[in-house]
Amino acid sequence: MKANTRRDNKLAFDEVADVYDSARPGIPPQLVTSLVRITHLAPGDSVLEVGAGTGQLTRPLRAAGPEVTALEPGDRLRALLAKHAADDPGITVTGGLFEDYTAPDASFSAVVSANAWQWVDPAVSYAKAADLLTEGGHLALVWNFPIVADPELQRALNEVLAEDYPDAVRDPATHLSGIETRAGEGRAELAASGRFEVPWWQFSTDTLTLTPDAYHDLLLSYANAAVLDDTARANLFLMVRSTLDVHGVDTVTMDNVLYAVVARKTDR
Ligand SMILES: C[S@@+](CC[C@H](N)C(=O)[O-])C[C@H]1O[C@@H](n2cnc3c(N)ncnc32)[C@H](O)[C@@H]1O
Repeated sequence: MKANTRRDNKLAFDEVADVYDSARPGIPPQLVTSLVRITHLAPGDSVLEVGAGTGQLTRPLRAAGPEVTALEPGDRLRALLAKHAADDPGITVTGGLFEDYTAPDASFSAVVSANAWQWVDPAVSYAKAADLLTEGGHLALVWNFPIVADPELQRALNEVLAEDYPDAVRDPATHLSGIETRAGEGRAELAASGRFEVPWWQFSTDTLTLTPDAYHDLLLSYANAAVLDDTARANLFLMVRSTLDVHGVDTVTMDNVLYAVVARKTDR
């Protein structure tokens, strides 16, 4: 994905850390297994994860073998991540922005990130990742974009979301093409860095099945939810709930579009 042009609310997720932890889907183990295979990661290899949140990629990645240094600047998110990883000495949790991160060159076999790379300054991100990678190391980036599977229900929800929480609106007609456009712009950014070979990339879709409460929490886990006050959140809950009731829905099925891109560091 192309880097966000405005990154001032990049730490907003920390305001909703508990909701984030319970509501955000993990990266599917099957996709993580593919990423491990494509990047030739072996058990014991060292990986740096940027913007680890509460471990949505960290945990399945660690389960696939490598040792993970998980960088997460949000204090509350990082505390939850550390709690989840407490029993695993193969996960090292550390704080700070990637822009400020320091480690010797060639420290990692892979630099990975889920749903976070767009928050890092692109003038820094690719060059720093390349410097941190061993010869032949890989940058592996993944994002997921859930949308309500029934377009009619998504459009009905859009009507109640548009005024107070426009960021949560998802247009079924342009959802995939919008992701493809931003993904292409992100690959152009990667190419312009001159530090990586032509990438492998893939779109896939899995299904999320959520209770109405879990759907509401998912909406609240996005960056701009932190600006909603308690009244706005309560209103959002009521409006979402009543729309689901009108449509006779007690389970929200979502198509979760996953985009992954992997690039090998260019040989010098
Ligand atoms: C949308 S969350 C993704 C969390 C998790 N990886 C996931 O897939 O759900 C973005 C994360 O990136 C972190 N973040 C934002 N800007 C960052 C930066 N410049 N360097 C490192 N992490 C950053 C945020 O604190 C947040 O946890």
